[in-house]
Amino acid sequence: MKINRNYLNLKDSYLFSTINQKVTAYTTSHPEKKIIRLGIGDVTRPLCPAVVDAMKAACDDQGRADTFHGYGPEQGYDFLKDAIRGYYDKRGTSLEPQEIFISDGAKSDVGNILDLFSPDNTVLVPDPVYPVYVDTNFMDGRKILYMNARKENHFLPLPDENVKADIIYLCSPNNPTGAVYDHQGLKAWVDYALKNQAVILFDAAYEAFVSDPALPRSIYEIEGAKNCAIEFCSLSKTAGFTGTRCGYTIVPTQLQFDGASLNKLWLRRQTTKFNGVSYIVQKGAAAVFTPEGLMQIKENISYYMENARMIAEALTQMDIYFTGGKNSPYIWLQCPEGMASWDYFDLLLEKAGVVGTPGAGFGQNGEGFFRLTAFGTHEATKEALERIKSL
Ligand code: MLT
Repeated sequence: MKINRNYLNLKDSYLFSTINQKVTAYTTSHPEKKIIRLGIGDVTRPLCPAVVDAMKAACDDQGRADTFHGYGPEQGYDFLKDAIRGYYDKRGTSLEPQEIFISDGAKSDVGNILDLFSPDNTVLVPDPVYPVYVDTNFMDGRKILYMNARKENHFLPLPDENVKADIIYLCSPNNPTGAVYDHQGLKAWVDYALKNQAVILFDAAYEAFVSDPALPRSIYEIEGAKNCAIEFCSLSKTAGFTGTRCGYTIVPTQLQFDGASLNKLWLRRQTTKFNGVSYIVQKGAAAVFTPEGLMQIKENISYYMENARMIAEALTQMDIYFTGGKNSPYIWLQCPEGMASWDYFDLLLEKAGVVGTPGAGFGQNGEGFFRLTAFGTHEATKEALERIKSL
C-alpha cells in the first residue's frame, strides 16, 4: 500500500490545531492562569431562540412515525433551499433550487469541491490566506501561486494579466485580514476569470458582517459571475452554527468548463459521497432566514461588531496599525515593535493570558501581523484589551 505522498508536503498540523496544542500545553503547566481566547473564530453567543425552537420541533417530528424523516435529499431539503433563495432574492440575486447544495459547513465544501478539478490545474491564492485553501490543494499535489495582499494594496490583490491561473480563491470579507472587496474589485476578478477560463471559488462565510450597503456580499452581484464562480457560505459565524454545522454552496447551472457542467459534476459527487445534513439541523438553519431569525441573528452580529469596535478603539489608543473590524469580525494588526508574529503570540499568551492567531500561520505576508477575533464575549474582550494595554 502506498500513501498519498502529497500529505508529506503539509506542515505537521493544521494552524488552529497547533495553536490549540500550544495553549493546552501552557494551561496545563499554568493552571492558575485565566486564558482569554480570541484566536480561532469560534462564536460565543448561543443559537438564537428561533433556531432552537425550530430544532426542538424537528426533534419531535423525528420521534413520531407520521413526521419521521429518514435519508433526505443529499443536496438539502427544499424548505431550506427556498429559504436561502429568498435570502439571495432580497439582495437581487435569483437562484434556481438545483443551484443550492446544503452541507455541513463551508470548510468541508471548499475542500471537497477539488474532487471536480484535475490535479494539473494551477491555483491562485492570496497571501495571507485561510490555510484550508492551501492545504487541500497540497493534498492533491496542485501547483499554487500566491498573490500579495499587503498594506500597499489594502490587502485586496487584483488580477495580474501576466499570471495564468485556473482556480482562484477569493474570500471577502477576508479571513484573516478583514478586508472587503468593492464591486469594482470583484468585477476585475470576474473579468479575469471569464477571459482566462478560470473558476473563482468565492468564500462568503463572513458576508453577514457587511453593514455597508455599497459593498457586495455575494460574487453573484457582479455581472458574469454565474459563468465563472462557485460561492461557499456558512451559518457558522452568521448564526452561531460552529458546533451545529450547516452551510451551503452555490454552483450555477450555466457553469461550464471543459465541456462539462460543474453543477452536474458536483451533484454526482455529493449524491455519491454525502448523505446530506440532518433534518433537525436543516430545520434550525431554515429558521435563520425567517423574519424572526434574521432579526435575532442581527442582534448577535451587532454584539460581535461592538467587540470589533472596542478592539479598534484600544489599538488606536495604543497607536498600533490595524485593518478590518469594519464589515468583518476579524482585526488584523501589526505586531508592535517589529515583533515576529509567533513571538507576539507567545508574549500575549504568557504575559497577558490572551490567545490570538499569529499572522505567519496564514502565509509569508502574515509575518509581523496578528489576528484578533470579535467573537468573544464583551467581558472577555474588554478584559483582554486591558491586559494587552498594560503589557
Ligand atoms: C478561523 O478562525 O479562521 C475560522 O474559524 C476557521 C474556520 O472557519 O474553519
